[in-house]
Amino acid sequence: MDQTNARTVKPEAPILLFDSGVGGLSVLAELRSLIPDAPVIYAADLAGLPYGEKSEAQIAARVSGLLGRMAERYSPRLICIACNTASTIALGMVREVLNTPIVGTVPAIKPAAALTRSGVIGLLGTAATIRQSYVDDLEAAFASDKLLMRHAAPELVGAAENRLRGLPVDRDVFRRAAEGLRAMPGGDRIDTVVLACTHFPLLSKDLASEFGPEIRFVDGAAGIARRIGSLTSGQDFRRGGPDLALTTGPLIEIERLSCAFAVHGIDRLTEL
Ligand code: DGL
Repeated sequence: MDQTNARTVKPEAPILLFDSGVGGLSVLAELRSLIPDAPVIYAADLAGLPYGEKSEAQIAARVSGLLGRMAERYSPRLICIACNTASTIALGMVREVLNTPIVGTVPAIKPAAALTRSGVIGLLGTAATIRQSYVDDLEAAFASDKLLMRHAAPELVGAAENRLRGLPVDRDVFRRAAEGLRAMPGGDRIDTVVLACTHFPLLSKDLASEFGPEIRFVDGAAGIARRIGSLTSGQDFRRGGPDLALTTGPLIEIERLSCAFAVHGIDRLTEL
């Protein structure tokens, strides 16, 4: 964004973070450490969760429709699609229809390829993400000389949602995610795992204890925060009060997450 645009952005104009559920909080945590004064609106499409089990057409229609409505209503300075599933499917389409700058979240294959020593990388994502040509393109561009193994771990989405509501989580979901990768030919040589769903870094301790200390995890959250920082550089930020979280689902659903949001300075919860 050039300096002319930077001057026209109001200091209280929010950054809108969008996800199907709580996954975007892994991005918000990084954003808060980089730009603590940024006003944020967090939008969780709880009525549409989980995206990973939906078709491409359903996700594209839902995400572009919702972001269009919210862009009109809240005039964000920038929208971050804090969801790999929505980004790998709908990022291009959303950028075409909205004038607001859009930052997407795509699997961190590039940094994983730089980190791996064994040359074997695992990738955990939703079923919808791992089948995207967007992921094929990232693999071809950054990991063509590596072995990349993709495994769909939809149960981890529900586990993160439950964990942040303070509900019990079945430890078998972590075991199944690790075994899904290890059981693939060459899976025993994986030394780096891409967490290609924004929900998964919220479970990093559980995943680390299941995979063991020799496995490194990579996710895109810090890189996304830096990208937001660079696109908004030169702009003023003012948080007039507690930030807002919106949901498409019933209010009670987001109220169950009030503690998880409060940790990130979000104290107002409402339906879209
Ligand atoms: N947080 C979303 C992602 O990064 C997906 C969760 C879902 O299945 O809705 O892909």
